[in-house]
Formats: sequence, C-alpha cells, structure tokens
Amino acid sequence: MLISQASTMAVMAVMVAVVLQSLMLVMAADFDAAATVNTNRVYQPCTDTKIQRLDGFTFGIAFSSKNSFFFDHSHQLSPCDVRLSLASLNSQFALFRPKVDELSLLTINTTDFYPDSYGGYMVAFAGRKYAARSLPAFVANTTYIVTSFTLVLEFQKGRLQNLYWKRDGCASCSGKSNFVCLNKQDCAIKTSSCKNRGGSGDCSISIQLAFSGTDRHLSVLNSWYEVSNLRQYSLYALYSNLKDSLTSQYNSFF
Ligand SMILES: *[C@@H]1O[C@H](CO)[C@@H](O)[C@H](O)[C@H]1NC(C)=O
Ligand SMILES: *[C@@H]1O[C@H](CO)[C@@H](O)[C@H](O)[C@H]1NC(C)=O
Repeated sequence: MLISQASTMAVMAVMVAVVLQSLMLVMAADFDAAATVNTNRVYQPCTDTKIQRLDGFTFGIAFSSKNSFFFDHSHQLSPCDVRLSLASLNSQFALFRPKVDELSLLTINTTDFYPDSYGGYMVAFAGRKYAARSLPAFVANTTYIVTSFTLVLEFQKGRLQNLYWKRDGCASCSGKSNFVCLNKQDCAIKTSSCKNRGGSGDCSISIQLAFSGTDRHLSVLNSWYEVSNLRQYSLYALYSNLKDSLTSQYNSFF
C-alpha cells in the first residue's frame, strides 16, 4: 500500500515525540566481536530498505486496541498507513534499531507505561510500499500481562517480507506457579503482581528477536536457528547486562 511521503512524515513526527516521552529502549548483548560498518541509511520504520547482515534495521512496535489495527473492521493495515490514523487514536509507538542477525533482546519498561491503558495489543511493523506487519499480539489487560515474546523478522534478498510472533504453546511456563497460560499460547502473569500495580515484580516487556531468510547478497540469516534451538527463557541468561529486576522474574527458569 502506497502512502504519500508527506503523510508518512506527519505520522512519524508524532510517533517519535511519543516514544521519547514514555518508552525506553534497551538494546542488549553484542555477540559479534568484529566491528562492522552499517550500510543501511534508512532510520525510519515507514520507509523501504534492503539490508545486509549486521546492518542496523529500524522497525516499530505500535500499542493500541486490536480493532484499531484494522481498516473497515476487515483488513489489517500497517501502522504506517494513514488510513488507520493510529496517531490520533489511543496508541503508543516504540522504535528499535537492532543489528540484523545478531541475537537481541528488546525491553520496554512498563514502570510508567501500562499497555492495558493503550488497548493492550501490539503490532510490529516496517516498510512503506513493501509494508510488513505482524498480527496483533495480546500484551495486557487489567488482569494479566504477557511479558515475554519472540519476534521473527523474515527477509528475502534483504527485503523484509514478514514479521511474526513465535510462540511455544506455554511449554516454557507450564507448571510455574506465578504464570498462567492464556489461550494455550501466552505465558502471562497477574497485573497485580507488577510494581506500581500493587505488586513488586518488574513487568517490563522483553522481546527476543530472531532473523530468518536471506540478505541482499543472499547470505543466510542464522539467528532464528539459534533462537529456535534454545528455550525462550534460557536465552535470558545470555544477556549479562540485563537488569536484575528482570531476570529475577524468570529465575525459576535458569
Ligand atoms: C524500569 O524503570 C524503573 C524506574 O526508572 C527502574 O527502576 C527499573 O529498573 C527499570 N527496569 C528495567 C528492566 O530497565
Ligand atoms: C484478560 O484477558 C484474558 C485472556 O484473554 C481473559 O480471559 C480475561 O477475561 C481478560 N480480563 C479482562 C478484565 O478483560
């Protein structure tokens, strides 16, 4: 879907302002010792690009109600598409720029940001003419919050084709008393156990990234292979600079 450059820019201005206001981005873990040069000069999520391995790649995550990601209540559009007018609805945006094919954990601090007060769902997105977006994923309502996700970014010849949430059918939390399995797919905790919501836990949202497919030189992206071979929570132990408040939430898994 094509949207005019001018409208895209207007949306972006709003998005960036909102991000700076209320969301914090933490990039964790640099597994690649060799310094590499970024060749991707596209820093906006609503612009098309073609990447090579270890380039930075910008994408966004929008938080809103499930319905607001659909046009005419029927087809899901990218949050970049002005027909959704997400910026004027009750929504929040976060921007990330991970390195392609590097194991990365994104965290969104929920100390002052309650996803349930912005509709409780999130969509990952990037691109304009070649717009890609994930399905809306449930994050939180007043009772439950899902704090751990795996997002796969699939490229073909360097162009983003698809973004999807990879789930393990609650295998990683079955039998853990502080977790509830929602809809047979998401491990959730009670919102009331979160800091500032009556509890003491750090309910920041963590998103493990994995890359699959090929870059523009047809080099194969491997990080999906690494992530799929490790269980969701065991990956957290790899991020040595992760906040204690976060790892303590998952200590029972290590
Ligand atoms: C979130 O922010 C609060 C307050 O600034 C801080 O105490 C906490 O450690 C942060 N959590 C993470 C995971 O960064
Ligand atoms: C929160 O979401 C869960 C899972 O979808 C659902 O069972 C529950 O009824 C919801 N609670 C509220 C207050 O909407």
